[in-house]
Amino acid sequence: MMTVLQTAQAVDAYLEDMMLGDDPILDAVAAASEAAGLVPHAVTPLQAEFLAMLIKVCGASRVLEIGCLGGYSAVAMARALPDDGYLLTTEIDTRTAEVAQANIEEAGFGERIELRVGPAMEVLLEHVANEAVFDFIFIDADKVNHRNYLDQALKLSKVGTLIVADNVIREGGVIDENSSENSIRGVRAMFDFARELEGVQMTALQTLGAKGYDGMALFRVEAAR
Ligand code: DHB
Ligand code: MG
Repeated sequence: MMTVLQTAQAVDAYLEDMMLGDDPILDAVAAASEAAGLVPHAVTPLQAEFLAMLIKVCGASRVLEIGCLGGYSAVAMARALPDDGYLLTTEIDTRTAEVAQANIEEAGFGERIELRVGPAMEVLLEHVANEAVFDFIFIDADKVNHRNYLDQALKLSKVGTLIVADNVIREGGVIDENSSENSIRGVRAMFDFARELEGVQMTALQTLGAKGYDGMALFRVEAAR
């Protein structure tokens, strides 16, 4: 008997086969990331296409990613941008950032993607101080700071900005109010914060697929902040 998770993984393979064409660019990013020993936490091909689709639906031209890892989602999102588009991404780990920078250049996005090496919060505070504004923001760094990243992301938003926060379900761990896991406490702090927000439309999708059981939260800024 296949478990639900095994079935979902097989279904992901089927959907990739049916809906996504060959993708030598993202395949190369994934292969180089794996060869460099990066953790296998990149979004799946179908999730990458979901992010790319959201960017097109929003008509976004300025994208912020918080947490780059090997550059898989950054490249997928940058591809969805218009020619004058710009994507800023952050990576705290120097060696990971070297792998990502090489992947980004190899993919042909060295101009469109700016990778900043360092703690995401430093980069965010600097951009808040400079009154930078983004059309689309993907939060995917350490989950401990999910609440703080959402807080800063809202300061970098305008009416219509869409913010997507990854990994908000954690195999259902999110509903464990007594969890001692810092990432779950971080995600729960984000929801506690979200609950008090006004002028922000929000929803979340649980996902089950190639990367297991998790989910994404979506926030769309509706009123000037
Ligand atoms: C983890 C982080 C991620 O961004 C992800 O998509 C999956 C797992 C993790 O740290 O466990
Ligand atoms: Mg993630």
